[in-house]
Amino acid sequence: MNFSLNEEQKLIQEAARDFAQTELLPEVIERDDAQRFPKEEIKKLGELGFLGMMVDPKYGGSGLDTLSYVIAMEEISKIDASISVVMSVNNSLVCWGLEKFGTEAQKEKYLTKLSTGEHIGAFCLSEPEAGSDATSQKTTAIDMGDHYIVNGTKNWITNGGTASTYIVIAQTDKDKKHKGINALIIEKGTPGFEIGPKENKLGIRGSDTHSLIFNDVKVPKENRIGENGFGFKFAMKTLAGGRIGIAAQALGIASGAYELALKYAKERKAFGTEICNHQAIAFKLADMHTEIQAARLLVYQAAIDKDTDRNYDLSGAMAKLYASKVAMDTTVEAVQIHGGNGFVKDYHVERLMRDAKITQIYEGTSEIQKIVISRSILKKN
Ligand code: CAA
Repeated sequence: MNFSLNEEQKLIQEAARDFAQTELLPEVIERDDAQRFPKEEIKKLGELGFLGMMVDPKYGGSGLDTLSYVIAMEEISKIDASISVVMSVNNSLVCWGLEKFGTEAQKEKYLTKLSTGEHIGAFCLSEPEAGSDATSQKTTAIDMGDHYIVNGTKNWITNGGTASTYIVIAQTDKDKKHKGINALIIEKGTPGFEIGPKENKLGIRGSDTHSLIFNDVKVPKENRIGENGFGFKFAMKTLAGGRIGIAAQALGIASGAYELALKYAKERKAFGTEICNHQAIAFKLADMHTEIQAARLLVYQAAIDKDTDRNYDLSGAMAKLYASKVAMDTTVEAVQIHGGNGFVKDYHVERLMRDAKITQIYEGTSEIQKIVISRSILKKN
């Protein structure tokens, strides 16, 4: 297997790395502290073509493959995972689903603005009582002929306050269970649609996470994505790709923490020598390096599966499960290598450790990934 990047992918990697170093690093600690959404930085990310990376250029996208997307995700996540989650949701959960399953009119109206970053998108599946158990949707979309009336609450929605376009999953026919669920495009400002309070989070604090409240929101039928009852499958198919983006985010958080720990271990002295010369530290670095490379191979494999039209449910779930564990383990060890300095904000590793945790939770917890993986291998064997 050839895992080397082509010239175009190397250029994307370099562009993402430069952008992260020059535009994102300077204020990342302040954004995290203040829970400030990176509005200007996201605008620039859109100008660089990083918000609609896989979208056809005829809809304003960059027309790149999934591998290019995960490479860029890794570089941005090394510095600021609050920004890469906006990038991931917009690219994989919103643009990809709209391009793949939307009507031509929906693509023209919404996708072009989303893929350039003029608008930001949100994907609204989770509810107060439907997180992992995603088929238990309580939000309703009652069929009124030419429109739906939507009622309910969504929780922990990334880009909740800053998005303009929301893909909302809701139950139309309860008797049909998951086959009675629809995916609807709802615009910010639609009467009855309210943005709830912003969450005060452990990590990815620069990102904007809200609950959303729908009170008799009228949504035209032409805003439904796919056939009547396709909403749950739409969510599952979209999340299968989204998980590759989050796996890449986890990989980036891990590599960012590793790079900082390596640098620190080569500079910091204790007992008369640089601490990397102590086996206790050198072995930690060896474990980190090995695990990160293993995670990278899983992430690339999942991206290549998606690019070559192979089933990526299994490889995407494995990549997310493993990369998010590596992100957690690596960031904890990076803090340990930094000692007291690791516990203060200036050295970045404590933030990366806090940011790592969510990669084991959103877009399907690690336990959900194990359901997907075990079902897949048991079906095959
Ligand atoms: N592709 C296509 N269809 C799929 C699918 C996939 N990957 N996975 C499941 N389905 C289909 C099944 O085939 C089935 O359809 P049929 O009855 O027609 O065969 C239907 O969906 C229901 O599937 P299951 O019976 O397997 O459903 P389940 O109740 O056992 O749940 C689950 C399956 C995998 C656990 C699912 O509920 C799940 O993924 N839960 C986690 C939800 C999640 O990831 N939430 C994250 C929120 S989004 C987020 O975090 C975004 C953010 O802002 C960052």
